[in-house]
Amino acid sequence: MEKKISHKSGISGNLTVPGDKSISHRAVMFGAIAKGDTKINGFLNGADCLSTISCFREMGIEIEIDSNSVTVHGNGLHGLKAPQNILDVGNSGTTMRLLSGLLSGQNFTSQITGDSSIQSRPMDRVCTPLKQMGAKIYGNASGCKVFAPLKICGAPLNGICYTLPVASAQVKSAILLASLYSKGKTEIIEPIPTRDHSEIMLNHFGADISREHEKIISRPVEELHSREIYVPGDISSAAYFIVAATICKGSEITIKNVGVNPTRTGVITVLKNMGANISISNEKTVCGEYVADIHVKHSKLRGTTIGGKIIPTLIDEIPVLAVAAAFAKGKTIIKDARELKVKESNRIKTVVCELKKFGANIEETDDGMVIIGKENLSGARCESHNDHRIAMSMAVAALAAEGASIIENKECVDISFPEFFDYIERL
Ligand code: S3P
Repeated sequence: MEKKISHKSGISGNLTVPGDKSISHRAVMFGAIAKGDTKINGFLNGADCLSTISCFREMGIEIEIDSNSVTVHGNGLHGLKAPQNILDVGNSGTTMRLLSGLLSGQNFTSQITGDSSIQSRPMDRVCTPLKQMGAKIYGNASGCKVFAPLKICGAPLNGICYTLPVASAQVKSAILLASLYSKGKTEIIEPIPTRDHSEIMLNHFGADISREHEKIISRPVEELHSREIYVPGDISSAAYFIVAATICKGSEITIKNVGVNPTRTGVITVLKNMGANISISNEKTVCGEYVADIHVKHSKLRGTTIGGKIIPTLIDEIPVLAVAAAFAKGKTIIKDARELKVKESNRIKTVVCELKKFGANIEETDDGMVIIGKENLSGARCESHNDHRIAMSMAVAALAAEGASIIENKECVDISFPEFFDYIERL
């Protein structure tokens, strides 16, 4: 299906965005292996998080979905049952990789796979450390690469000391989940910090995870204990409106109750460096996570360079940052972002290809892209590539571009933000 979006002179008002995807996944997973009932308020009802729920139901966990919350009836660390069917993660990389770690330490065999995008994304990054821990995990091998489907035969695990070769919170979290079932302590060295929702939430449930500079240390505990969780709004979803309000003249919005964990706020840092008018208020801590309101007014942007350690803190926001850069004065260089090639689509290629249709001056590089901003872009017919973040980023470009645009294959926004186009209509 396609969606027509016309130029908007400005957006205004207060809004909230759906719950954080990373935190929603983790709340279901950790709730399932904790003892007792975990009520999750503000759970993201997106397709990815629903895939996580269906995988745990398949392993005997009762999960109730209400309009405002999800309740997971946890069975404790050793309470999962052998699945009767192949676990299907759909399009969700987070489910695939975190579950691989969790399944490695169970006393049963399981198989796990997902859609065609998942089957083309690298899984060796989780299989390598898990095998070092003793996991018996087999996938579709192609040279040194491993792809889903994976077969995981539960095995006794041992703690390891592992340096992450790619900055990936999914890999770190897979190892942390396996560490809960391992003998001895596990140490993960993270040269470039990545989102730390797993460490925060696991500790909230009673795990023993500490950090010494670059090193994260996990020591096994007897049990995890259920807790009520409040999921903040997803900053990755808020980013579309932050950029839209910045580049559409006359805009002024406040997005309430957004997660502002510093491992996720690179998008705000970069936009401010580019001259955006963004302020944060009402900061508080909820379930160990920083939450705040974000106020944004239209402003003129200038080009910048985005690279180095900030990349993991804004990796999912690069498509929409590229849109901001396409309207900024001067040159923006995005580098050190090779990871974009192995997301739901090759986001270096898909962003460059789609923004060119709007007339943007943008070129692909080996590890990112170079954009020379323009005053105006013109409406275009563009394609989501079945990647939710591409669909939503192009919708933001469409709001600011002259004339009307069409987004083809728009339904992929269901992955992380099912009501996205209703929000666009309302604004
Ligand atoms: C996520 C980590 C990131 C991010 C993804 C969600 C997570 O992936 O891009 O959308 O919830 O841990 P990587 O671990 O591959 O960087």
